[in-house]
Amino acid sequence: MRFLVTAAVASLLQVCFAANATDWRSRSIYQVFTDRFARTDGNTAAPCDVANNLYCGGTWKGLERKLDYIKNMGFTAVWISPITEQVANAYHGYYQTDLYSLNSNFGTARDLRSLASALHSKNMYLMVDVVPNHMAFAGCPDKVDYGRLKTFKHADHFHSYCPILNPGNQTEVEVCWLGDCNMAMPDIKTEHPHVAREMNAWIRWLVTNHNIDGLRIDSVKNVNKGFFPPFCRSAGVFCMGEVSEGHAAYTYPYQAYMDSVLDYPLYYAITRVFQQKSNMSDLVVALASCTENRETGCKDSTLLGTFFENHDNPRFANMTQDLSLVKNALAFTMLGDGIPIVYQGQEQHYAGGDDPWCREALWSSKFDTTSPLYKHTALLNHIRNHVIAHGSSRFRNHYGHVVAESSTYLGYQTRVLAYTATELQLRKGAIRMVLSNQGEHAPTWTLKTQGMEFGKGKAVLDVLRCARYAVDGNGEIDVNMRSGEPVVLVEEDVLRGSDLCGCERGGGLRRYQAVCGGEWGPHSP
Ligand SMILES: *[C@@H]1O[C@H](CO)[C@@H](O)[C@H](O)[C@H]1NC(C)=O
Ligand SMILES: *[C@@H]1O[C@H](CO)[C@@H](O)[C@H](O)[C@H]1NC(C)=O
Ligand SMILES: *[C@@H]1O[C@H](CO)[C@@H](O)[C@H](O)[C@H]1NC(C)=O
Ligand SMILES: *[C@@H]1O[C@H](CO)[C@@H](O)[C@H](O)[C@H]1NC(C)=O
Repeated sequence: MRFLVTAAVASLLQVCFAANATDWRSRSIYQVFTDRFARTDGNTAAPCDVANNLYCGGTWKGLERKLDYIKNMGFTAVWISPITEQVANAYHGYYQTDLYSLNSNFGTARDLRSLASALHSKNMYLMVDVVPNHMAFAGCPDKVDYGRLKTFKHADHFHSYCPILNPGNQTEVEVCWLGDCNMAMPDIKTEHPHVAREMNAWIRWLVTNHNIDGLRIDSVKNVNKGFFPPFCRSAGVFCMGEVSEGHAAYTYPYQAYMDSVLDYPLYYAITRVFQQKSNMSDLVVALASCTENRETGCKDSTLLGTFFENHDNPRFANMTQDLSLVKNALAFTMLGDGIPIVYQGQEQHYAGGDDPWCREALWSSKFDTTSPLYKHTALLNHIRNHVIAHGSSRFRNHYGHVVAESSTYLGYQTRVLAYTATELQLRKGAIRMVLSNQGEHAPTWTLKTQGMEFGKGKAVLDVLRCARYAVDGNGEIDVNMRSGEPVVLVEEDVLRGSDLCGCERGGGLRRYQAVCGGEWGPHSP
């Protein structure tokens, strides 16, 4: 009896708790493509023919059983595919037919709640992809049987059909339909007060019933902007929108309507610079378009979703297999401003091309935790999580977990210290980085840092290699650059208790050998 009461109180608390932007800023997100992550039976030999666009068998239960694969990489949140009921074969989840039923291919409501609980017990958040722009009907737009679209059964809940012919006409983008004669996508009339009220009631139901902590909102640019503030208020949780457009002045202003958007402008710059080796100045300009240029309407760079792969675009490795380039891109993504997002398979160096080729089944990797990029990602998350906790004020959230409220790292906007065409020196709080796009065949050389402002007389560690440097009288160091690898520099004091480079948890100061046991960098005394 006592147990029952406690459980009831606990579940009440869960329902009441809503994770907001402050809670999400310190998170890092692993994007799961539900059908392709893990199966309930745990079978890692199950075939998945991506070309055929069919279900491959991934489920919420399969994901729950493999959460440690994600947790051990240091992620603190998981984004899953849309959960609503779909037309046949819509394994991706973007062709919904009924807002109030779940996609039974992925599991039951009980499975989903169980996944949410499992995540929460690991101090991780659940982000769910939602699609307020459209429903779907397998057929031509003029043949849509509205009776089948359960929540909105009448044609007048939708815009009348028109194709999007001119993507430069925003009205057209918002009121006309996505899709074609294979898949019509009736465009929900979200500016209609009755329809908006229905949508708001739905999102409140979805979030509270499934203990969701945040939303990734699909096709944001196809919906009237004014729809979002009440929608996100009703959801009561953090909202990150997909505005799939590289122009800063188009994408960033959407941050006035929701907490966050996926940073597509930065995505294009990251791929140009690290994948195609374009001039580093390209990345410098892209960074400034949010942090320095108020005209783009970029409200808060520390809440943007930073990524360079997802289920809609060719993977990084589809163009280059160079491991050092992708390691630089990952370091930039995960240790810069913004909430980092890594798409399943990046850590296994998957190389699929454009949709549907970038949707490979993760289980074919056998969930290898020894692959170079799995280890690199885990290390970057470890560094980020440590630095966030270091020197921050904290509070306990409703799950009883400690959350960094204001951290000198999180509140510090990335600063460009110096750059050439191939190297970039950055600082975000306690983390300084030297990134390179020379690639893995680059020679070994010495780079003199500029503007790092390390404490004079201190020791600094390159935490990716555990190389140790002594700071000179100008607060700079001479960094050993090797094989085009990224360099992540942190003062040794900051690493105390991190378990990084021999800076053991709880380990006290050891004389001369100092805090950490790393090798000395070649240019240190
Ligand atoms: C977010 O929620 C926390 C409590 O969990 C609260 O302290 C904080 O002020 C909220 N932040 C915003 C921006 O609403
Ligand atoms: C933009 O599209 C809307 C809706 O189709 C149309 O009414 C309007 O004339 C278009 N505007 C321009 C400038 O083409
Ligand atoms: C890139 O993707 C295409 C499919 O879009 C594929 O044919 C090609 O083999 C991929 N390249 C690599 C290096 O895997
Ligand atoms: C890289 O960009 C900078 C700044 O625009 C420019 O001065 C430099 O010449 C460029 N370098 C190369 C190799 O293109």
